[in-house]
Amino acid sequence: MCWRWLLSCKILRKISLGMRFYGGWLLCLSLLLVIFHIFSVVEFHPNSVIEGGPNKRNKKSDHLLLGPAAGQGLPNRLQCQGSKALNKTHLLTSPSASNVGDRIVFVTMFTIYNTSLDSHADSKSSNLVTVGNVSYTKTERSMAILNVFINFIQVTMPRSSVIILTDPESDLLLQRNKVTLYPIQGEYSREKLMLQRIRSYITFLNTRLKELAQNPRHTSHYIFTDSDIAVVDDLEHIFQKFPKFHMALTFRNNKEQPLNSGFIAVRGTPKSILRAKIFLQEVLEVYTSKYMSASRMLGDQLALAWVIKSDPNFDLRRFSKARAFLAEIGGASVLFLPCATYNWTPPEGAGQFRGMPLDVKVVHFKGSRKRLMLESWNFFSSASDISDMLCLILMSGRTKYDF
Ligand SMILES: *[C@@H]1O[C@H](CO)[C@@H](O)[C@H](O)[C@H]1NC(C)=O
Ligand SMILES: *[C@@H]1O[C@H](CO)[C@@H](O)[C@H](O)[C@H]1NC(C)=O
Ligand SMILES: *[C@@H]1O[C@H](CO)[C@@H](O)[C@H](O)[C@H]1NC(C)=O
Repeated sequence: MCWRWLLSCKILRKISLGMRFYGGWLLCLSLLLVIFHIFSVVEFHPNSVIEGGPNKRNKKSDHLLLGPAAGQGLPNRLQCQGSKALNKTHLLTSPSASNVGDRIVFVTMFTIYNTSLDSHADSKSSNLVTVGNVSYTKTERSMAILNVFINFIQVTMPRSSVIILTDPESDLLLQRNKVTLYPIQGEYSREKLMLQRIRSYITFLNTRLKELAQNPRHTSHYIFTDSDIAVVDDLEHIFQKFPKFHMALTFRNNKEQPLNSGFIAVRGTPKSILRAKIFLQEVLEVYTSKYMSASRMLGDQLALAWVIKSDPNFDLRRFSKARAFLAEIGGASVLFLPCATYNWTPPEGAGQFRGMPLDVKVVHFKGSRKRLMLESWNFFSSASDISDMLCLILMSGRTKYDF
């Protein structure tokens, strides 16, 4: 309904501008009649618009939906023909070629509670969703996402390993190669989950510091991420390409939320780990003192942004260009990486967006895009082509899915 009004208003404005030039009053009168007719059509049949429209638009899809691929014809954006990529930029490196350099450890927090009561309600057929030929309960969906997160890492960065920070009370059972569970005592209620996550990151970094003090030669770099991401290219290069940073964050050009907490990289040297720990302790302090009432999902991002913005030397205008840069924040050398490449997600809603950069390395399946994450993995499993899969994601990333 709303967009029709807007459209009509735009037409009205354009026509009235035109009229000034032509000055023909008769023309104006007849045009106005036509316009009134347009308005009356819109106004007198509102029900027909409301009935089918919003409901259909709000319904979340239970199967893959493909729209047009954004960014076609733009340079440095992925070009697609259907779900075939015309730019094959993501060629998987052979394991032998990447067998040099530093080890990367991905760290994610994940918990799952599997009380008998829940799992009974969960397995009712009405709560099942089907992806490919597999039906999932709610718990199984979370597990599938975690597994796909690990799958992508093992395909694109086969030398790296995964550590899962979890609640000791969690019923998480997972046996995968190069994946370790790391229980940390804490408060894992839904309201406090993001707060606990920062606490867990700090605890983890602290343990690494102690280990390094005993065995200084054992260095790995750490990348803390959400588990609803797909690593689609090697990330090791950031530690060599930008040799000076202690920790890295991803940013976007968004005034209220310029930083996303879903990707934090920490260099594996004692000094960097210490700096990152102190930085996160400050974020935690800001979170608990300023943002406890914030939405349970956003508090950490608001606190992160607050810490950055309150540094007197930080130039916020640097967020407007999607280019990596380094800045000193309270003693830590922080590398800011553009979300467009290191934390890519299509914008929600109807806003414009300019497609997918050719060098995208991390895709974030935020919000109602978890189904797309599983579908993408299934697609990749059969097509074995990352670029084609990225076309699928590009065409489908703005659909709201059922989970
Ligand atoms: C991507 O593919 C399109 C279509 O084949 C081509 O015109 C464009 O130059 C390619 N871009 C790059 C950077 O290779
Ligand atoms: C499900 O699909 C996969 C991949 O297409 C196939 O390998 C497998 O056999 C299927 N399983 C069943 C039970 O149909
Ligand atoms: C949940 O509990 C059931 C039954 O005890 C078990 O079979 C299943 O593996 C558990 N799931 C997880 C994710 O721990």
